[in-house]
Amino acid sequence: MAIFLDTGDITEIERFLKMNIIRGVTTNPTVLLKAGVSGGMQGIKKRSIEIAKLIEPYPLFVEVTTNDRAKMMEQALEFHGWAENIIVKIPIHGPAGELENLEVMHELEERHDVPINVTAMMSAQQCFLAAMAGATYVSLFGGRVNNMGYNACEEIKKLRKVLDSFSLKAKIIVGSTRETLNIIEWLEAGAHFVTAIPSLVQGMIIHPYSKETVQTFLADATRIENK
Ligand code: E4P
Repeated sequence: MAIFLDTGDITEIERFLKMNIIRGVTTNPTVLLKAGVSGGMQGIKKRSIEIAKLIEPYPLFVEVTTNDRAKMMEQALEFHGWAENIIVKIPIHGPAGELENLEVMHELEERHDVPINVTAMMSAQQCFLAAMAGATYVSLFGGRVNNMGYNACEEIKKLRKVLDSFSLKAKIIVGSTRETLNIIEWLEAGAHFVTAIPSLVQGMIIHPYSKETVQTFLADATRIENK
């Protein structure tokens, strides 16, 4: 069980890497855009290779940017070739519910031996089918699940139970963190990994009462020195 960082920001990744508390990095086009990536595929390639090198042997997840079947396959093979630790993300289906994505994913896993993370999923049943189709990782968007009025923890528990009872290889990544509490509660519910934005990971470390306690210790140390 571990934490991934959901960002494309090099400075943030370095910060948490030095503390040894992250075990990988997840991105998607929105995350990369927010992190200042530009210049189309060349920009994505440059930043991805930079992050992959920085965090190796931990995995970096990079998402395809097309819904065209042939291009998706081409991109997946290309991303996989950029660095050994790059794992390709493919959404569960297309923007209008097109179903080719699982076929592409299955072909990549089976014929090309390329591990895939099936992403943008909002329910245990979607994740279960992606796992049945052979995905190495299944990504559930916990925050979006909660926003829709469903309970992310319940989906995670159900999902972990069926994956384990059918001995499916897929590991559960829960993303879309909205609160610091999400990280520990989703891991406890059964996620193998939670991918969290940097501010929420920082929120796990810093506690107001710890601050106050440390302030007292330092003040008393000064008093001893002056005695
Ligand atoms: C996970 O891999 C996704 O990149 C991410 O967590 C999605 O989060 P959002 O709902 O904040 O877009």
